[in-house]
Amino acid sequence: MRMERTLSIIKPDAVGRGLIGEVIRRLEENNLKIVALKMVCMTKAQAQGFYAVHKERPFFDSLTDFMSSGPAVVMVLEGENVIARYRELMGATNYREAAEGTIRREFATDIEKNVVHGSDAAATAAFEIAYFFNSFEIVG
Ligand code: CMP
Repeated sequence: MRMERTLSIIKPDAVGRGLIGEVIRRLEENNLKIVALKMVCMTKAQAQGFYAVHKERPFFDSLTDFMSSGPAVVMVLEGENVIARYRELMGATNYREAAEGTIRREFATDIEKNVVHGSDAAATAAFEIAYFFNSFEIVG
C-alpha cells in the first residue's frame, strides 16, 4: 500500500448546483481524508495552464471556458491508494459509462460538465496539487 495525495476539484457546474456538500459527504463516507481545501475562481489562462496536457484536444477551448466560468472547490486528498480510490468514487469521465452509484453517474449532465476532477497518476497529482497549494496550506 502506498501513501498518496491526489487533487480533487468540485467543478463550477457542481458548485452552481449546490453539490459541494454532497461531494464532500461522499469523500468522508468513503474515508478519503481531506488535507487541504479552498474555493478558487480560475481565469481562462489558469484553466489553460491546469489542463495544458489537453491543449491539442478539440474540447480544450470549451473545457477551459467552463472551468473558468465560476467558482470551483479544490482539495487535496491523502491516503493509501487514494488516487485509484477517488477515481473509483468519481466514475468514468463520460457519465454514461460510469458505474452505478458513482458521483458522475448520479450527478453529471454532460461529458464536460462532469461534476468532479481527480488526478490520474502520481506525477499528475504532484503537478496539480502544486498548481493550487503551497506546502503551508496542506495539513498533516
Ligand atoms: P477531467 O477529469 O477534469 O479531465 C479532462 C476534462 O475534459 C474531463 O474531466 C471533462 O470535463 C473534459 N472532457 C474529456 N473528454 C471530453 C470530451 N470528449 N468532450 C468534452 N469534454 C471532455
